[in-house]
Amino acid sequence: MPKSILLPLLADGEFRSGQVLADALGVSRTAVWKQLNRLATESGVAVESVKGKGYRIKGGIDLLVEDQISAAMAAPARALLGELRIFDSVDSTNAEAMRRAQQGCASGLVVTAESQTAGRGRRGRQWVSPYAGNLYVSLLWEYSQGAAVLEGMSLAVGVAVSRALQACDVGGIELKWPNDVLHQGAKLGGILLEMTGDTAGTCQVVIGIGLNVSMPADAGGAIDQDWTDIKTVTGGQHPGRNALLAALLSELLPLAAGFEQQGFAHWRQEWLELDAFAGSPVILNTGASQLGGIARGVDERGALQLETTTGIQPVYGGEISMRPAP
Ligand code: BTN
Repeated sequence: MPKSILLPLLADGEFRSGQVLADALGVSRTAVWKQLNRLATESGVAVESVKGKGYRIKGGIDLLVEDQISAAMAAPARALLGELRIFDSVDSTNAEAMRRAQQGCASGLVVTAESQTAGRGRRGRQWVSPYAGNLYVSLLWEYSQGAAVLEGMSLAVGVAVSRALQACDVGGIELKWPNDVLHQGAKLGGILLEMTGDTAGTCQVVIGIGLNVSMPADAGGAIDQDWTDIKTVTGGQHPGRNALLAALLSELLPLAAGFEQQGFAHWRQEWLELDAFAGSPVILNTGASQLGGIARGVDERGALQLETTTGIQPVYGGEISMRPAP
């Protein structure tokens, strides 16, 4: 019996007896009990058991529900949506979207999941992806004019994430070049673009976004940098993962559909207004070398404008990290 069948029956946080659950699912009470035990070990979802009352998930659980997401999306974005695929668990939503791209899946496919077993971050890092706490989403889109016209796209996605959060009354978002989503200096989300196909012609882009919504403390302990989540930022006053995902897709689908024509120039001013490091001394680590200077925003291609002793140097590429200078 998959979790996705049993969990919705307990999602509201109310007690249900073993018999009620067993009847609803057409299985034995022992099968229900076994599955609830597995939930705790496999997903970290704690199910409370009280004699005479039954089982409950204390505080409930905010599961992803396709109808709720689709109903809450803005109409223009809904018109651009192809398939919305919700996995209980997947290795990586980006990896799944890439596999589907290679099988010929078209623009508008959205892959999301309650958990990822091998969530991918930038620079080969792992993206911590516990069950039903955060958002992990990937959008596939096909372009015909090659990779060059897609420069700056990951920065534009950061702007779209900020807009979506603002629409859900989650303010104070800042962006760190090239594509970290921050709140008061702590990482709230990350963006990972991957590409397949012909970089000089028809190519498919997967736009992956991870957003910390309600990160369990034990899972968060595995993150090697300062992080936060939407629950902390809002004191728990947010509309829930389905509404947050709908808001995200409402911004993301039109961005993906229009980017080839609009380019980053369309998004640049808004990015500059969200720039966490504008005018700050920074050190760029390229892995092989370090370069110090003052961050002076980005140009129309999304390249960081680094002011050094020899003048402004544009910095391209996504394999660079940035830290405030000591
Ligand atoms: C970063 O390192 O900041 C980028 C993190 C991107 C994580 C998201 S979660 C959804 C999608 N699937 C993945 O495996 N990675 C991206």
